[in-house]
Amino acid sequence: MKRLIGSLMAAAISFGAMSQAFAAGDAAHGGKVFEEECADCHSVKDGKNKKGPSLFNILGRKSATIADFNYSDAMRAKNTIWNAEVINEYIRAPKKSVPGGKMKYDGLDDEKAREEVINYLGTLH
Ligand code: HEC
Repeated sequence: MKRLIGSLMAAAISFGAMSQAFAAGDAAHGGKVFEEECADCHSVKDGKNKKGPSLFNILGRKSATIADFNYSDAMRAKNTIWNAEVINEYIRAPKKSVPGGKMKYDGLDDEKAREEVINYLGTLH
């Protein structure tokens, strides 16, 4: 138990250094948001695609670059880098952000949940 607490604290500290903007607990809760909102269609494992492409290492990744995933033409044309802001805009309203895209998801209205899930995505590398 002590060791678990120790490693949780170490994780919290390194996360804090990575992102000063958000509290450390957020990424852990973001993992739950991910399970509820995204995991049906997205794996976080490198190279594993589901209905959607793997989100391993998504923060800072260029859009539509998973070679064996069949992106929509709209996503191929988006031509962006998935930083926190761009992901935030996309998951708030996927159909507005990428009209004609094939992510069949209505969007996540809750701003805090979006922040948390993006923090979680930032841990996937
Ligand atoms: C119903 C299935 C589904 C759900 C739910 C879903 N996605 Fe997606 N996602 C997709 C599909 C399909 C694509 C490919 C879109 C395209 O090609 O237009 C995609 C693409 C993406 C991309 C672009 C990846 C790349 O390689 O360019 C990101 C980022 C993303 N989704 C994040 C999320 C997040 C975060 C959530 C949860 C908040 C989520 N998605 C929920 C199906 C889904």
